Amino acid sequence: MGDIDPAFIQSTEHRPKAKVEEVTEIPVIDLSEGREELLISEIGKACEEWGFFQVVNHGVPFGLSREVEIEAKKFFEMSLEEKKKLKRDEFNAMGYHDAEHTKNVRDWKEVFDYLVENTAQVPSSHEPHDKDLRTLTNQWPQHSPHFRETMEEYAREVEKLAYKLLGLISLSLGFAANKFHDCFKNQLSMLRLNYYPPCPFPDLALGVGRHKDSSALTVLAQDDVGGLHVKRKSDGEWIPVKPTPNAFIINVGDIVQVWSNDKYESVEHRVVVNTEKERFSIPFFFFPAHHVMVKPAEELVNEQNPARYREYNYGKFFANRNRSDFKKRDVENIQI
Ligand code: SIN
Ligand code: FE2
Repeated sequence: MGDIDPAFIQSTEHRPKAKVEEVTEIPVIDLSEGREELLISEIGKACEEWGFFQVVNHGVPFGLSREVEIEAKKFFEMSLEEKKKLKRDEFNAMGYHDAEHTKNVRDWKEVFDYLVENTAQVPSSHEPHDKDLRTLTNQWPQHSPHFRETMEEYAREVEKLAYKLLGLISLSLGFAANKFHDCFKNQLSMLRLNYYPPCPFPDLALGVGRHKDSSALTVLAQDDVGGLHVKRKSDGEWIPVKPTPNAFIINVGDIVQVWSNDKYESVEHRVVVNTEKERFSIPFFFFPAHHVMVKPAEELVNEQNPARYREYNYGKFFANRNRSDFKKRDVENIQI
């Protein structure tokens, strides 16, 4: 076993514990028709207590999810040279990348990013922001005849689920189901294929370091290996999310946190790696359009509960994502 590249080493306080005894599970919510009342209260409770939940009977065809997994695996099996032909860089915001960093520590993973099909261009409402001059067009590999088609179909299905969940979250906050829907016209949501190779140093490195998602919400598919840890709000313990067959993991992102004026928080999470097994996961980040101004919903703000955030332009906030000074995109930065 060789030495680990220091770029991957987490500081002592952020390294995973050797053994997690915890058996608590984040809520699993059944999205079947005919139980809307119950569903809304279950979702509200999960968003408040955990910021995370899993959903089953969600309507995304199982066969399609399987095809996506197969295509993702084939993609990452290609040689580094082939994958690097699609690399994400200062000219292309989408594509392949093998050196993701979270909070300035390198993540033990490779990714492939693409935008959902009908929005894969810079929209006219989006004014480029100084360092944000990269094209937002997708780059597609040619190694498999079905890759693009499968990924685009999957994006449409997961997007439908994201709208449904956004509606349920809105209802749980006491709003109409479509309260926030207009913010997603011309949206720039992104899908990411994550590949975590086995790691000889699982006690030093992380697949993804601790972070919060800057989306409105995230719809995540994971395989049966496990590795996602969620920081429990009540005591700050890292709780593993047990893989549930054919489920999606949903988490509240920064935008819902701001809209709800902190009623629902965007919770920290991370990914641990292991020496034996590779792991795949696929998050769909549901982002509003770049011209959207985000601020706490007026109905939730009053004298006793003043607005906790200033209004901000989502596009500008998003443009700060890739800067080395990661703090610029934390919602803490727009706190009042
Ligand atoms: C992430 O939060 O960025 C990835 C989650 C996962 O791989 O489970
Ligand atoms: Fe995340």
